[in-house]
Amino acid sequence: MVAATDLNITALETEYSQKTPREILQFALGTFDNIAISFSGAEDVVLIDMASKITKDFRVFTLDTGRLHPETYQFLDEVRKHYGIKIEVMFPDAAEVQTLVEEKGLFSFYTDGHKECCGVRKVRPLRRKLNTLDAWITGQRKDQSPSTRNHIPVIEADAAFSTPDHSLVKFNPLASWSSAEVWSYIRALDVPYNKLHERGFVSIGCEPCTKAVLPNQHEREGRWWWEESTLKECGLHAGNLEK
Ligand code: ADX
Ligand code: SF4
Repeated sequence: MVAATDLNITALETEYSQKTPREILQFALGTFDNIAISFSGAEDVVLIDMASKITKDFRVFTLDTGRLHPETYQFLDEVRKHYGIKIEVMFPDAAEVQTLVEEKGLFSFYTDGHKECCGVRKVRPLRRKLNTLDAWITGQRKDQSPSTRNHIPVIEADAAFSTPDHSLVKFNPLASWSSAEVWSYIRALDVPYNKLHERGFVSIGCEPCTKAVLPNQHEREGRWWWEESTLKECGLHAGNLEK
């Protein structure tokens, strides 16, 4: 198996940007042993479905912020049982959450912005997980956010989470898929989905920071709706803000 530094990422990105999500996933899972799918409990379950048809031996992790909807917890467990997989769950550091909540209460993000809480509940747990991996796979798509995700490559060196001693590769196999393509796949193949989608939720994150959107409203408008649209990245994909 290769190390991240052995790959010519630019050449691979040119080659694989023309390929299907399944081909990209197959390449990712076939190239790295130490790789995992980052699963948010929303529509990126498509990645799990595709991976389950490629190999029985793939890893999935999720970040449990402690603030997810009940429907998301139910969905995570449904996916676990449906595919017969183990989902590795990353929790925030208890002392960090305790300090934040004691100092600023449970809803500081509405007044101070979401960065601090996302840092504690999402980004640092993600960093802990990524420090143990050589590559990760996300369900990010260009059409999720014209202002921050328009340039997402299907494969990239992860500048945000690599360290001088540890290079990390990031795969975004669904980068060029539209929301409509994702949902055609889910319906055609009877893939389980989060029941919140039946109630107008499109992009789903934590409960206090996600709301349903109206017809023709952009999906990202339901996330951190009190903040300016160009800031709607929580740090999981910090590299998006630099592109
Ligand atoms: S976010 O940065 O705004 O929260 P978004 O909800 O669009 O991310 O999801 C994009 C991708 O990030 C998902 O397809 C998934 O790969 C990853 N992701 C987001 N939230 C989580 C989570 N709680 N646990 C694991 N992966 C996540
Ligand atoms: Fe905290 Fe909201 Fe970020 Fe979840 S999305 S970690 S509740 S600020």
